[in-house]
Amino acid sequence: MKKIVIALDGYSSCGKSTTAKLVAAELGYAYIDTGAMYRAVTLYFLEHHISFTNPKEIKDALDHIEVEFHYNSKTKRNEVYLNGLNVEDEIRKMYVSDQVSEVSIIAEVRHAMVAQQQKMGKKRGVVMDGRDIGTAVFPDAEVKIFMTADVDTRTKRRQVELLEKKQLVNLDEIRENLLKRDLIDSTRTESPLRRAEDAHLLDTTHMTIDEQVEFVLERVTSQLLKK
Ligand code: DC
Repeated sequence: MKKIVIALDGYSSCGKSTTAKLVAAELGYAYIDTGAMYRAVTLYFLEHHISFTNPKEIKDALDHIEVEFHYNSKTKRNEVYLNGLNVEDEIRKMYVSDQVSEVSIIAEVRHAMVAQQQKMGKKRGVVMDGRDIGTAVFPDAEVKIFMTADVDTRTKRRQVELLEKKQLVNLDEIRENLLKRDLIDSTRTESPLRRAEDAHLLDTTHMTIDEQVEFVLERVTSQLLKK
């Protein structure tokens, strides 16, 4: 069967990665969490005190950064590695979430990540989630979904996710972080978060995960049936 690219873009914490993982598992596709790549770069910048405004430091840092995904058969998920170290848990912490949008603005960072993402999806058969997949990384993706949900729903979902990782963060702090990231992500100059004209809109506010997965799979099926 023909292999396609499925692009899932949208605001922070509206269920993109959960949906993407399940869709990928259902289709036997690879799942690529592009947000994890920007988070890994942010972690490196913070650990090495890289100035976000110094082009030379940024370029040198990018030359020393290798971001990879490896499948963990115990957790049954792709986990992100920064220069050979598993950073899957570290990159989800609030101090990284607080800075990641600032790092994602940087054009050099985006160019490096986008090139790597295009390489990862070259053979197609991938579900990629992020902010600019359907507009910049794979404008030719066969299925594009743009996900949204109201901010209170997203805040509560994010808190549950963090609690599962034993991180206790209050709702106000999470809400503020989501809104700040949405604003920076959608107003930056370089490939801002926006809905591609041909993306299906998926508002997950009142939807279960199963319904979200079904919504995407239905679009995939009708795409695959097209001549
Ligand atoms: O999906 P996430 O919340 O883990 O993403 C973290 C940040 O990374 C997000 O606030 C903006 C940035 N990002 C991006 O700029 N482009 C992408 N394709 C994915 C994420």
